[in-house]
Amino acid sequence: MILIIDDDSAVRSSLSFMLKRAGYEVMAVPGPREAMEVVRSESPSLLLMDMNFTLSTTGEEGLTLLKQVKIFRPDVPVILMTAWGSIQLAVQGMQAGAFDFITKPWNNAALLQRIETALELTRTPKSESEGDLTTSLRRSHIIGRSQGLQEVLNTVARVARTNASVLITGESGTGKELIAEALHVNSQRSSQSFVKVNLGGISQSLFESEMFGHKKGAFTDATSDRVGRFELANKGTIFLDEIGDLDLACQVKLLRVLQDQTFEVLGDSRPRKVDVRVVSATNADLRQMVADRSFREDLYYRINLITVKLPALRERREDIPLLVRHFADRLSDANGLPRVDFSAEALNFLSRLPYPGNIRELKNLVERTMLVSGKRLLDASDFDAQYLRHDDVAVDASSLAGLTLDEVERRTILQALDKYKGNLSQVAVALGISRAALYRRLEKYNIQVAVP
Ligand SMILES: Nc1ncnc2c1ncn2[C@@H]1O[C@H](COP(=O)(O)OP(=O)(O)OP(=O)(O)O)[C@@H](O)[C@H]1O
Ligand SMILES: [Mg+2]
Repeated sequence: MILIIDDDSAVRSSLSFMLKRAGYEVMAVPGPREAMEVVRSESPSLLLMDMNFTLSTTGEEGLTLLKQVKIFRPDVPVILMTAWGSIQLAVQGMQAGAFDFITKPWNNAALLQRIETALELTRTPKSESEGDLTTSLRRSHIIGRSQGLQEVLNTVARVARTNASVLITGESGTGKELIAEALHVNSQRSSQSFVKVNLGGISQSLFESEMFGHKKGAFTDATSDRVGRFELANKGTIFLDEIGDLDLACQVKLLRVLQDQTFEVLGDSRPRKVDVRVVSATNADLRQMVADRSFREDLYYRINLITVKLPALRERREDIPLLVRHFADRLSDANGLPRVDFSAEALNFLSRLPYPGNIRELKNLVERTMLVSGKRLLDASDFDAQYLRHDDVAVDASSLAGLTLDEVERRTILQALDKYKGNLSQVAVALGISRAALYRRLEKYNIQVAVP
């Protein structure tokens, strides 16, 4: 049963009507007092709660009700309804344990989808253990048995089949894109498109035409029609990579389509509907960016119903031997070469490196060593030789004592810049990180690069 709480009787009756027609049992009450009676005596499966009661303009009443509900029914999802302009209240509500929020006036189809998602995500069959969940997962090429990765895969298994927006965080090279793909492959949308957009690479002026498309003649360079990424992703999944790189002006434009599931093609003012599942990734600290006001709080909550945090490779070293085997076999098979073996010392050596570039760095090291040595049995010295060839980026450990991790990183980058004479592509490859990740670090450490 869905419980509606709203002091406006017109809202109560139109929501009741709509939800009953969608097949739900519904109860509707005007205020917090009645709501708590129902919450204690019945067992609603979801609450749809107004935050703006006439008694209080601050929303205090709504927040208090939410907190009370969470005490009596911690597992029941609550979707908040707020007036447009009181996003702050919704954000407080999310922090107090609400599952989601919508702004009034709402869109029926979008609301139904949110409700479905909330019910799906919170329905936990008692018999289904976490282990069972992950065995049903199509893991594609995700390798690893560590506790850290298992937790990630549990979350993926739990949320993949829902429409919940997922934010994937983690350092560069930890496998964020791989996890985004797994979310799509394991969803009901897997037969539809998975559209990847690198938001780090899109300039503000091109953002709209890239994301929403344009009509021929919409602006000077629009010599033909163009289909935007959202339309391409319709019924499928859109993967918003490097979302922390999006500037504030573009954030507003993105927020709108995520809220309403509608957008306009440049040069055509008719709004179009889309049905997309949103998965985002970043290695920036979005919470910090929200605090600094460089990332919109409402967008943050919109893209981040569920967070998946990928552990760094150094936090799951037990996965290293498996990964080495996997990357080696893939390289051999792809090139029609015989498979190779690794001595115990080699695996031991590889298990102890720091890996600032995480799995990508390990993969590069394995592939480089195989190709350069050409041997069938690889020993620690083979890897050591390749690793040392990159000693421009691997700072001598004995000189690091007493330095913070940030300082080690800063020095490593400076050395690599020096070695490659400021060629950022080469520096990024040598460090095993993407160019976007390198840019972010240059900015973070305030390192100026002379452009030749
Ligand atoms: N668990 C894993 N098993 C096998 N391969 C992996 C795993 N995780 C990552 N990889 C591989 O490591 C490389 C880097 O992964 P990916 O591109 O997904 O990282 P990322 O987190 O998106 O990095 P960036 O922030 O730099 O974009 C890819 O080649 C990917 O296939
Ligand atoms: Mg990536």
